[in-house]
Amino acid sequence: MKQQLEAIRAGALEAIAATTRSSDLEALRVKYLGKKGELTAVLKQMGKLSPEERPVMGQLANEVRAAVEKAVESQAALLAEKALADKLAAETIDVTIPGKEIELGHKHPMYTALDSFKEIFINMGFEIMDGPEVEQQDYNFTKLNTPDDHPAREWSDTFYLTEDSSILLRTQTSPMQIRAMETHGVPIRMISPGRVYRKDEVDATHSPMFHQIEGLVVDKGITMADLKGTLNAVIREIYGPATKTRFRPHHFPFTEPSCEVDIQCHKCGGKGCPTCKGEGWIEVLGAGMVHPKVLRNCGVDPDVYSGFAFGFGLERMAMGRYKISDLRLIFENDIRFLEQF
Ligand code: PHE
Repeated sequence: MKQQLEAIRAGALEAIAATTRSSDLEALRVKYLGKKGELTAVLKQMGKLSPEERPVMGQLANEVRAAVEKAVESQAALLAEKALADKLAAETIDVTIPGKEIELGHKHPMYTALDSFKEIFINMGFEIMDGPEVEQQDYNFTKLNTPDDHPAREWSDTFYLTEDSSILLRTQTSPMQIRAMETHGVPIRMISPGRVYRKDEVDATHSPMFHQIEGLVVDKGITMADLKGTLNAVIREIYGPATKTRFRPHHFPFTEPSCEVDIQCHKCGGKGCPTCKGEGWIEVLGAGMVHPKVLRNCGVDPDVYSGFAFGFGLERMAMGRYKISDLRLIFENDIRFLEQF
C-alpha cells in the first residue's frame, strides 16, 4: 500500500505540473482526489491492514492527499496567471501607431448638379414630383399628342416590356406633365427629375439610360414670355449671370410653339471650338407652350389655362458644369474620376 500511495503521489504531481489548461487540471483533480478517484480507491483497502499498520498508512495517505491538493492549487494559480499574461499580451495596444484613415464618400457629381438645380426651382416656388420609370405608352406617347407613326415609338428606339407595346421604359420625363396635371390639377408649377431609357449604343455622348428634368407651369395667362424669362433666369443661375441664350424654333408633338434653347459656348465665346463642335452654341434643353390637346387630355380647359413645359438633360448639365468630356465617365463610377469632385 505504501508503494501504491507513493506511486499516486509521484504520478499526480508530475501530471499536474505538466498541465497547460485549467480543464485538464480539473480532470486530474477528479482523477486523483474525487470520490471515485485513485486515492479513495486505495483508502478503501485500509480495512485489510493490521491495526499497527493502519495509522501509519492513514498518515501517509493524508500527506499524499494534502500534497496533491496543494499541487492542484498552485498549478491553478499558475495557469490563471499565465492566462492573464497571454490576454494582456494579445490585447496590447500600441498607441504610437497612426490610426487607419476612414475614407468618407460623397455625393456623385451629377446629383450635386441636380441638388443645385432643385434649389433654384424650389426658390422659384416649384414643387418636386417623382414618377415611374416603367410607364404606360399612353402616358409616354398618346396623351402627349405623339402620333402612332412617330419615330420615337419604333421598336428599335424604345424598350417595350410587353408584346402589345402598352408598357415601356419611359423615353422621356414628359409623361410626368400628364401625371402631374391628373393628380395635382392646375394651377401647377413643378419639376420632375428622373431616369429615362432609349435604345442607344454607348458612346461619349449617348447612353441607353440617362436623366432628364421635366418642368411644367400651367396657370391662367401664362405666355411664351414667362417661358423665356423663367428659363433665362435658371440658365444664368447655373451657367453664370453673363450667359447668352438663344431660343431656336423646334418641334415637339406636345408643345406648340416649341423651341430648343442653346447657350453661347463658354469656352470660345461663340467663335466655334471643339467644345461646341464649331457651332459657337451648345444646346441645353427643349421646351415649348403646352399643346392645347395635352391640356384637354388632362381635363384642363385650354381656353382658360395655358402653360409651358421644358426638359433639361441632367448629364449634359453636369458635363458642362464640371467640364467632363465623356458621358461614360459619369456612369462608370471609377473612384479616381469621382474623387475629383
Ligand atoms: N421630352 C423632350 C425630349 O426628350 C423634351 C421636352 C420637354 C420638350 C418638355 C418640350 C417640353 O426631347
